[in-house]
Amino acid sequence: MGNTQFDPRPLATERTLDPTRIPAHIAIIMDGNGRWAAARGLPRAAGHRAGLEAVRRTIDACRDCGVRVLTLYAFSTENWRRPADEVAALMRLTGEAVVDEAAELVRGGVHLRLSGDLSALDPTLREQLEQLVALTQPNRNLVLNVAYNYGGRAEIVSALRKLAEEVAAGQLAPGGINETQVNAHLYTSGLPDPDLLIRTGGEQRLSNFLLWQVAYAELYFCDVFWPDFDRTHLLAALADYQHRRRRFGGVEDE
Ligand code: IPE
Ligand code: IPE
Ligand code: MG
Repeated sequence: MGNTQFDPRPLATERTLDPTRIPAHIAIIMDGNGRWAAARGLPRAAGHRAGLEAVRRTIDACRDCGVRVLTLYAFSTENWRRPADEVAALMRLTGEAVVDEAAELVRGGVHLRLSGDLSALDPTLREQLEQLVALTQPNRNLVLNVAYNYGGRAEIVSALRKLAEEVAAGQLAPGGINETQVNAHLYTSGLPDPDLLIRTGGEQRLSNFLLWQVAYAELYFCDVFWPDFDRTHLLAALADYQHRRRRFGGVEDE
């Protein structure tokens, strides 16, 4: 093997990370389930099922590292374009996960939030999801924000519509619309913006995810398919993040 393959940076562990520079909010585009399954000659749904294991690992690892908010892109407004049987399999898997994971979320002190248009979901699934949100509401270790039937543009349109209604009702002057007001009407209201956005599966695009909120997020793309994503991949992303200099439009302060 040639020396060019050698990466001199030590493998990141919890101990090599700077605990004062852990991102408060990590958002993940969990991509590559279908290709993971295809590489094994399995149906795409098997990839989604395997992806659930990666979700569990990532929740645990984020909690252990002191991340406060983890947003996971689970189903986009555009994912309805997939074959009906794949959409059905994804919805079924979500229903199963709500039942199977409830106790673990409570035990781990995880507070579930949902971002997206839930009105389009099967009423039973919607009710199950909302019950789990209510059940985990007092939990304080980690906010798990699941983006479900989520679209960044749809979210902005919905916020604009609510603001317009307030203006029409005379509760808000047009000049009173500012970034704080817009933030307050997004699905993610009350959450800090993501500091770090990770996309697995090798593609380098946003696919309509958190368009407003990622204005100053650090972007990290990795080739690993989502079902293979584990703690070492998360720690590598955190180590990379800790080498970034975030300037927010300003100048270096050192
Ligand atoms: C991501 O994996 C999961 C969802 C979008 C629900 P994909 O299903 O997009 O997997 P690939 O990109 O086809 O491999
Ligand atoms: C983004 O992945 C959506 C989710 C991970 C839920 P996609 O696989 O749907 O994105 P594109 O189609 O490759 O842009
Ligand atoms: Mg994909």
